[in-house]
Amino acid sequence: MEKEVVIKAENVIKKFGERTILNGISLEVYRGDTFVIMGGSGCGKSTFLRHITGALKPDSGKIYLLGKDLTRVSDDEMDALKKKIGMCFQSAALFDSMTVGENVSLPLREHTKLERGVIDIVVKMKLELVGLRGFEDLMPSQLSGGMRKRVGLARAIAMDPEIVFYDEPTAGLDPIVAGVIDKLILDLSKKLSITSIVVTHDMKSVFSIADRVAMLYEGKVLEVGTSDEIKRSNNPSVQQFISGSPDGPIRFFQQKDDYLEHLIR
Ligand SMILES: Nc1ncnc2c1ncn2[C@@H]1O[C@H](COP(=O)(O)OP(=O)(O)OP(=O)(O)O)[C@@H](O)[C@H]1O
Ligand SMILES: [Mg+2]
Repeated sequence: MEKEVVIKAENVIKKFGERTILNGISLEVYRGDTFVIMGGSGCGKSTFLRHITGALKPDSGKIYLLGKDLTRVSDDEMDALKKKIGMCFQSAALFDSMTVGENVSLPLREHTKLERGVIDIVVKMKLELVGLRGFEDLMPSQLSGGMRKRVGLARAIAMDPEIVFYDEPTAGLDPIVAGVIDKLILDLSKKLSITSIVVTHDMKSVFSIADRVAMLYEGKVLEVGTSDEIKRSNNPSVQQFISGSPDGPIRFFQQKDDYLEHLIR
């Protein structure tokens, strides 16, 4: 059976000033998949994510999210789309002055007319799903980094989204907590039939969660394929990234001018 495409990028180009950050990105994500976007720091992963969630518009190219062309949607259509996606940000991005429960309920309070009692039940359910049963009344400052990420995750799934975007969900976490988060992402995808887009450069994560992987380099998709295809790739840049070797075709910049110059192309 042909898989349904829920995200499609066609030749997406984005410049910031003279610098080309996305240089013709094309890819497709299938419903129900966990799709990982990997690549070195500064290669444009977060920027690309902001394009497919509609936060940024490309200079040229097309992006389709759940069948809608993001370069042409009306504000109303965009609002409707936003209710169908959830975001987990690079930092957990919790509001420190709100309790855990208030953080998780925020999208429900903003986007629905559900009554307080119903919202409380939904919040309980979502916290239960991320393994934080009964944590509603704590403040974010009372939690560890991994717990904060899980609260961010509970908030991302508050509205029962079709697609959840994760930007570096395991960054800064110890390997065990990172493994817990990875397992949670997989569990939520399977239990709730969510399509997950995960940006990461944690190689262990990549191969434990990905159905398909795209590696970005210099604003382009260097390679895209299943986990196994990427592991077996004979592209030396892909192999260098997987092994984390300082020697290989991927360049590292030690001089600011070299770096800035290479971005102007
Ligand atoms: N709003 C902006 N204005 C100007 N330049 C920007 C803007 N946003 C991002 N950039 C630049 O675009 C490049 C890519 O940034 P981006 O945050 O997408 O990288 P990344 O792959 O997510 O990196 P990391 O792995 O470190 O999070 C960087 O050089 C960054 O400075
Ligand atoms: Mg980033």
